[in-house]
Amino acid sequence: MAETNGNGNTSGVGQEQINTDIITLTRFLTEEQTKHPEATGDFTLLCHALQFSFKSIAYYIRRASLINLMGLAGSSNTTGDDQKKLDVIGNDVFIAAMRGSGKCRILVSEEEEDTIVFDEFPNARYAIVCDPIDGSSNLDAGVSVGTIFGVFKLPDEVLGPNKTVSAQHLLHAGTELVASGFTMYGASAQLVITMRGGTVNGFTLENSLGEFILTHPNMRLPTQRSIYSVNEGNTLYWPEWVKAYFNDLKFPASGNPYSSRYIGSMVADAYRTLLYGGIFAYPADSKSPKGKLRILYECAPMALVMENAGGQAVNSHMERMLDVVPEHIHDRSGIFMGSHGEVQKVIDMYKKFSK
Ligand code: AHG
Ligand code: MN
Ligand code: MN
Repeated sequence: MAETNGNGNTSGVGQEQINTDIITLTRFLTEEQTKHPEATGDFTLLCHALQFSFKSIAYYIRRASLINLMGLAGSSNTTGDDQKKLDVIGNDVFIAAMRGSGKCRILVSEEEEDTIVFDEFPNARYAIVCDPIDGSSNLDAGVSVGTIFGVFKLPDEVLGPNKTVSAQHLLHAGTELVASGFTMYGASAQLVITMRGGTVNGFTLENSLGEFILTHPNMRLPTQRSIYSVNEGNTLYWPEWVKAYFNDLKFPASGNPYSSRYIGSMVADAYRTLLYGGIFAYPADSKSPKGKLRILYECAPMALVMENAGGQAVNSHMERMLDVVPEHIHDRSGIFMGSHGEVQKVIDMYKKFSK
């Protein structure tokens, strides 16, 4: 029954439906683990450390303008990008969480030139790749940024003391990822996670509880949607087939033109694409012949999410993104990803120009 206030109006007090049986990420992971009797629990512990790093980074981003974390840190990362203070903090938080988990043997971060090897844990069987803060050029404007991660499992032969683990153990196709996902720090923090061959599940950080709550179970990409997301300022540098593809979306022979949505943080553009459908692209072009986004910790983890949600992801040569093997940990690629039908249109246009 709704209560009334002194004026006889309903106050809404007591009307709230309270769900007392919520699925937290911790519960979700525990339930997943019980589906695999052979599981040691190591992966679950690793995920707990991952979620702690996401909560911490979310906290620092929320507080950024209050505690003077905006602006540049005064250094640049491996590829010469200016590093933001939050890039540095995000990187440090992530590395500390992975070390602390005791389950990560080797780590690749966008912010570190070389791999980080935790030889103090010779039996740790996981290798992690991450972009601690994706979209950091947007930070000062308070626009959504995120963390992208991927998890590989190391082969048994490198476990144990006196064994050497190196970048070679990470230079694999995305099909080898056992899990991947990203967290977007927006109005609320959204965590999207998927395991190889599994579904895609979305969690929302409830700040008072400090828990990620399952809010988007079994996310599925709409097969079509007339939204495109690309930095059109690069049109001058695009190959002719890319120009023709986007031109067709804007000046269609039949039907309505597409809407354009480009935030400039891949996590945010990818999250919207996952929910609404459409296409996200960062093609290779004459300015960035190999593409801009990194294969290991940007393209492959996102591609696994997109594919497991029913979409597609390909590179600028129309190879399946998950099949691409990087030669170096910071290698880049062009990427087209999103709704199955929308990526198919990209592939069809590429074929038309290759004839
Ligand atoms: P990062 O902040 O990790 O360097 O990544 C930025 C990436 C990605 O988030 C985004 O899609 C793209 O760069 C934007 O690039 P442009 O500014 O060239 O459009
Ligand atoms: Mn990035
Ligand atoms: Mn980054």
